[in-house]
Amino acid sequence: MKTPRPRGLFITLEGIDGAGKSTQFEALVEILRAAGRTVVATREPGGTALGERLRELLLSEPMSTSTEALLMFAARQEHVLTVIEPALLQGHDVVCDRFTDATLAYQGAGKGIPRDRLQTLAHWVHPGLLPDCTLLLDLPSSVAAQRLRAQQRTPDRFEQQPEAFFERVRRSYLELAAEEPARWCVIDALQSPQEIGERIRNFLKKYV
Ligand SMILES: Nc1ncnc2c1ncn2[C@@H]1O[C@H](COP(=O)(O)OP(=O)(O)O)[C@@H](O)[C@H]1O
Ligand SMILES: [Mg+2]
Repeated sequence: MKTPRPRGLFITLEGIDGAGKSTQFEALVEILRAAGRTVVATREPGGTALGERLRELLLSEPMSTSTEALLMFAARQEHVLTVIEPALLQGHDVVCDRFTDATLAYQGAGKGIPRDRLQTLAHWVHPGLLPDCTLLLDLPSSVAAQRLRAQQRTPDRFEQQPEAFFERVRRSYLELAAEEPARWCVIDALQSPQEIGERIRNFLKKYV
């Protein structure tokens, strides 16, 4: 009888808009691939055909905060069932740009939905599934805003939020990290992309 392959690692990347997640994403995936692992690289909201359509709506269409949270979890349900869980069970690592922690920080702390309500949805949508590790790129909201302004493209519905919103989101991420220090790796995102990449490489040594 064949021994079942060990479950893959579920790694998530978090941080406010402009913190540098997309910049580090490929490097993170490359570190794992270079260690001989197979990686499914994905993002939230999105990661499935339906999820990407929901993403477009979430980033552009005005909607109530609870509609926003419910659509996030609807997209997540499809993602977990059809991409994340199957990949992990087959032994592939999954690297995901944002996951439920982003909903707790943005729709919870940022927009005021009670955390227990979001936790109920999380328990419904992905019972027992938690990232093995979560990398938090931590950046003051003023610096993130400057970085986004420098990009000179039209900001999406989330990026248009005021700096105070992002400061609440940032605080919330730091609180979540403090609650579960074994899962989170908090990275000072004021450092250069190279320094951040090195920090990620060092942190991942204990997993790969
Ligand atoms: N460590 C860094 N130092 C300075 N600028 C950065 C750094 N990381 C990313 N940037 C720039 O900041 C902007 C936002 O980065 P991005 O990776 O898109 O953030 P996110 O995906 O978290 O929203 C981009 O223009 C990017 O080039
Ligand atoms: Mg990004």
